[in-house]
Amino acid sequence: MYMYFSTFISGLSSIIELQLKDCIPDVSIKLVQDGIIIYSTNISPEDIVKLRFFNNTFSLVKTFKNTATDTKSINKIIKKTIEDKNVFYHLGKKIPKNNKSFRIVISVGNIMISPDKNMLYKLENKITDSISLRVDRAIPDIELWYFLRREVSDAYFGIRLTRHTEYSKILQKGELHPELVNTLCYLSDPQINDIYLDPFVGSGAIPIELSKSFVCKSIIAVDIDDSIVQRFKDRSQNLKIDVRSECMDSLNLANLKNNSMNKIVTDPPWGINIGKDLNLEIFYKQMLLEFFRILDVNGVIVILIGNKELFENVLNKLYSFFKIIDQYNILVSGKKAGIYKISVMK
Ligand SMILES: C[S@@+](CC[C@H](N)C(=O)[O-])C[C@H]1O[C@@H](n2cnc3c(N)ncnc32)[C@H](O)[C@@H]1O
Repeated sequence: MYMYFSTFISGLSSIIELQLKDCIPDVSIKLVQDGIIIYSTNISPEDIVKLRFFNNTFSLVKTFKNTATDTKSINKIIKKTIEDKNVFYHLGKKIPKNNKSFRIVISVGNIMISPDKNMLYKLENKITDSISLRVDRAIPDIELWYFLRREVSDAYFGIRLTRHTEYSKILQKGELHPELVNTLCYLSDPQINDIYLDPFVGSGAIPIELSKSFVCKSIIAVDIDDSIVQRFKDRSQNLKIDVRSECMDSLNLANLKNNSMNKIVTDPPWGINIGKDLNLEIFYKQMLLEFFRILDVNGVIVILIGNKELFENVLNKLYSFFKIIDQYNILVSGKKAGIYKISVMK
């Protein structure tokens, strides 16, 4: 059995737990706290890193109970690491042989902090002596992480398994992070015969993730901006699911027939950069009524919303058309947002 800890978007604990159980039937979940899950499974590190709903996954080496986040407490856990022979035995076994260099990372509440230099040197020396890795603080082959949260709680020490290029370098402007998109799609419970719509497609992150990681019959991708639709057409040429893209106003989806869609997963304008001149209340109402028209009986909407209060007001007024099934509060690029799973009542 391998022991792992993975980090995920804060606010999504309950759905991430389900998603993990769905993907890994033999998983044994030891602990779920907001933003972190500890679990064991027979799935190897090479395969565990393929789970797309986590930010990062680590091979767990040691847990430190009830740790605070001040320098003294962090020094203490580094000292305990140095004194524990098992740590170096496990590092020696778990670090793939082709990795020659390492660095230590200390993350407190998702912010990297610099530890006391003396303690850091002692730990680095101990690792260098025990498992013949050299220190490279710039571009190491492997990172060894202490993961702590802001409140007093358990701290975890592990080997980082996931590696991805900084999102700012690979994602388009305004494109949602892949792990969030993956969970939005999962929430909609994709089925082989479903016809999906993303009426505010932007970069295309949602249809692309649906096609990469889930099943469905076809996807319709809509945006009001023709240049965005053209860009998405280029990006979606080799997807495994049939995708049709159209330039339309999603408040009036004239080309789509009544009851013709099963699922909508989408991220409408937030009224901040995109749509800052919109009257969001009117926009949400027209959008929801149009969604109601085109969705079939049992239709489902999974929607990411920037202005939760306004959106819920509009939904309340349309109480005979929609029912909220689930709601999650998250932060997207530091801004409060809500994910809503809604069913239509036809
Ligand atoms: C928040 S962005 C979507 C971002 C997308 N989820 C991504 O990850 O790239 C909203 C998109 O809705 C489009 N949009 C705004 N008003 C629209 C309307 N009335 N109908 C269709 N698309 C619209 C914008 O052009 C923009 O691309």
